[in-house]
Amino acid sequence: MKVAIVGATGMVGNVMLKVLEERNFPLDELLLVASERSVGNKLKFKGENIEVISIPSAIEKRPDIALFSAGGNTSLEWAPKFAEVGTTVIDNSSAWRMDLSKKLVVPEINANELENTDKIIANPNCSTIQMVMALAPLHKKYKIKRIVVSTYQSVSGTGVKAVEQMENEIAGIKGDMAYPYPIHKNAIPHCDVFEDNGYTKEEMKLVNETQKILGDATIAVTATAVRIPTAGGHSEAINVEFDNDFDLSEVRQLLSETDGVTLQDNLDVNMYPMPMYAHGKDDVFVGRLRRDGSQPNTLNMWVVSDNLRKGAATNTVQIAEYLIKNALV
Ligand SMILES: NC(=O)c1ccc[n+]([C@@H]2O[C@H](COP(=O)([O-])OP(=O)(O)OC[C@H]3O[C@@H](n4cnc5c(N)ncnc54)[C@H](OP(=O)(O)O)[C@@H]3O)[C@@H](O)[C@H]2O)c1
Repeated sequence: MKVAIVGATGMVGNVMLKVLEERNFPLDELLLVASERSVGNKLKFKGENIEVISIPSAIEKRPDIALFSAGGNTSLEWAPKFAEVGTTVIDNSSAWRMDLSKKLVVPEINANELENTDKIIANPNCSTIQMVMALAPLHKKYKIKRIVVSTYQSVSGTGVKAVEQMENEIAGIKGDMAYPYPIHKNAIPHCDVFEDNGYTKEEMKLVNETQKILGDATIAVTATAVRIPTAGGHSEAINVEFDNDFDLSEVRQLLSETDGVTLQDNLDVNMYPMPMYAHGKDDVFVGRLRRDGSQPNTLNMWVVSDNLRKGAATNTVQIAEYLIKNALV
């Protein structure tokens, strides 16, 4: 099994290295790939220094799987070239997610859609992954009608430059800006670029990707995405209306039985999910479960997850593990 990480020097790429190591992923050779700026640099994997190579050099080596996290343009240009030499690409950017011919996969929910002919597989957006992880078991049982979600997103979701901006601001150093405004001591209601409809691209990802992953275009979703000065993970306040009524204790039971979800919901001991404690973990944490008294069949919940883990690297590696386990590569 020859695996390439394209974008190995970035925030997500770095966590991919950790996740592959922790999960003892079956590997014969690991190719670390980044832009020309990083070629020749060395990164550590399992105590060994591996030299970063360019994309064309990686394609020449015909890896079985390429885990991409190098931005949409890199993916649009290079993922098909990897696919042409027989590599299965699992891509973290938004480039292929809404392409009707590409699968958008959260393994716990819809990995069964994957086939050996899928040569470019899309990994969903980080905010979408944690939301659908918490909602999929409830959708199955009560059928979702409408979701209203507000996100509180970590700077690590924007990449290395944004983490540096926050660290510089905390230290009082003037440096490059990843955002149009300071992020330290601030909340910026602007994640990704604005679209013509007044929503940001991040907000529309929550709408479109949720419908695609849950396989139900009738689910209504409206979102507000906000960047806040945390580094550990993304948080989401979710208000979800179902077709059918639910019982809160049954909701708790369903969530606690869901693989990859941890229920943290005990008000007696102030137990609820927080990004500081989700950081570095693979699970999606759910709490503050309560009935919305303002309308029938509606639930409020608070969902937190490390955007670089389940929101990106872990989900990608889980897809790769599924492909290997089911002989799809
Ligand atoms: N951060 C998150 O929570 C998150 C979650 C889900 C998905 N994603 C997606 O994952 C991707 C990477 O995000 P990130 O946060 O890791 O960004 P990042 O920290 O800025 O890292 C970007 C990576 O891409 C590489 N790269 C950039 N241009 C390249 C090119 N032309 N050819 C080859 N490599 C190139 C960079 O290499 P150099 O170091 O050489 O520049 C670096 O390794 C993005 O598409 C992002 O939308 C991020």
